[in-house]
Amino acid sequence: MSFKDEIERRRTFGIISHPDAGKTTLTEKLLLFGGAIQEAGAVKSNKIKKGATSDFMEIERQRGISVSTSVLAFNYKGKKINILDTPGHKDFAEDTFRTLTAVDSVIVVIDVAKGVEEQTEKLVKVCRMRSIPMLVFINKMDREGKDAFDLMDEVEQKLGLRVTPLSFPIGMGYDFKGIYNIWEKNINLFSGDSRKNIEETIAISDLNNPEIDELIGEKPATRLREELELIDEVYPPFDRQEYLDGNLQPVFFGSALNNFGVRELLDCFIEIAPSPRPKDSDTRLVKPDEDKFSGFVFKIHANMDPKHRDRIAFVKIVSGMFERNKPYLHVRHNKNMKFSSPNAFFAEKKEIVDISYPGDIVGLHDTGNFKIGDTLTEGENMGFKGIPSFSPEHFRYINNADPMKAKQLEKGVDQLMDEGVAQLFTLEMNNRKVIGTVGALQYEVIQYRLEHEYGAKCSYENFPAYKACWLKPDDPKNEEFAEFKRIKQKFLAKDKFGQLVFLADSEFSIQMTQSKYPSVKLFFTSEFE
Ligand code: G4P
Repeated sequence: MSFKDEIERRRTFGIISHPDAGKTTLTEKLLLFGGAIQEAGAVKSNKIKKGATSDFMEIERQRGISVSTSVLAFNYKGKKINILDTPGHKDFAEDTFRTLTAVDSVIVVIDVAKGVEEQTEKLVKVCRMRSIPMLVFINKMDREGKDAFDLMDEVEQKLGLRVTPLSFPIGMGYDFKGIYNIWEKNINLFSGDSRKNIEETIAISDLNNPEIDELIGEKPATRLREELELIDEVYPPFDRQEYLDGNLQPVFFGSALNNFGVRELLDCFIEIAPSPRPKDSDTRLVKPDEDKFSGFVFKIHANMDPKHRDRIAFVKIVSGMFERNKPYLHVRHNKNMKFSSPNAFFAEKKEIVDISYPGDIVGLHDTGNFKIGDTLTEGENMGFKGIPSFSPEHFRYINNADPMKAKQLEKGVDQLMDEGVAQLFTLEMNNRKVIGTVGALQYEVIQYRLEHEYGAKCSYENFPAYKACWLKPDDPKNEEFAEFKRIKQKFLAKDKFGQLVFLADSEFSIQMTQSKYPSVKLFFTSEFE
């Protein structure tokens, strides 16, 4: 197969949803279709189970299995599918944001009864900002839920999307009879009392065909015709380019648990979803079919065994072929590195691979060389953009609780920050360290891991910050900036890349700063140029 064909057949995507909407179930059904697993229940859920044990032990458990679910790859109808795992728990939102920098499209799963939920809103917003193509799957149609039209209105309003249904449910809950597949123009019927099986697919090219009345009953058939007419009038026709540009989101209905509507989703997905897309770097746009390899680290996973402190850096290949044992430039360190055992990921296995293509993810063994966002190239000096840190929501001083273990603490904190567990800020005034996290749980995780993996002890103290604002003065030498630095001295810190950050204690203080020091620009992500 040619290099171009290899690229074209790749589909790298993430599934995003609020916890419990059915992401794991859908993932598993997709894997079953791809023949990558043989039975349901094979994909371990990495979500945090409520009340099982203490929450953070649950996180450790989750971390243990998340290497195996980080990338789930399989082949389906000639396409190579890479599903990237996106944790749904809000305390891991930043992990998910970072993974979204490595996907070429997403599927949004929504629970028909619950409608659009908070986490979905946040994640879709990020996808919208980046114009990532999105498909929407409305799940749990076997249950009573919201009316399909109302739900599509809600999706448009709350998520700011422009939708067009490519399938439509026939009834719902107890009366759920099946799905009309607008994309393929056929009807899929549930069969059996438990309505647990499809499976009759009947091609219907003409909606006036009386066969429909026989299949689903006269009343539902009339209703279906009316609904499809309404869809025709109200929703825009599907246009692939608009979908690819992030301006139109096709909607599918189904039930992941009952394997209903999933094949339809997958068959349409492989046809319309994008193959690997070009990515912006600080010097130029990099296209997948370029000869030379380039890629970036979007996730780092530490070994669970404290005796082997190596880690796996997950690299998304942007262009060219990644080859085993070939020297590549680690741009930030300006040094060449060779990888003798890069891993490729399949369903739940990883194996050493000689060649990988754009869209693929390779796992590189790392002894502490990588940070999230690092770029690898075949020699070119450039860095990929779009992997920013977002402002944390919690801030605490970290103190050394065992003076004999200062070195271990420093190393541990350093490595955990590289992994992206949290962000470290060093106060300008006194060099004290402040840890910022998205969720409060991370503090327990850090404390536990420092102790178990690095033999270091820490304690925390509250730091009264509300938001981290990255700074850029119009003129670093002007009076205004000097005054700002003097007045806000106590709240100025450096992030891990040495960028200056203002740790504001309230929204009010941010507003005051903006009006008092207009030449000092504040940014809410670490990447603003
Ligand atoms: P998540 O990864 O998005 O958090 O959701 P997950 O797939 O774990 O699904 C959450 C719950 O919803 C699970 O039930 C799952 O069985 C159920 N579910 C998923 N799809 C459907 C569907 O199409 N119809 C119905 N009725 N339920 C569905 P659970 O009881 O929380 O877990 P489990 O004990 O069944 O694993």
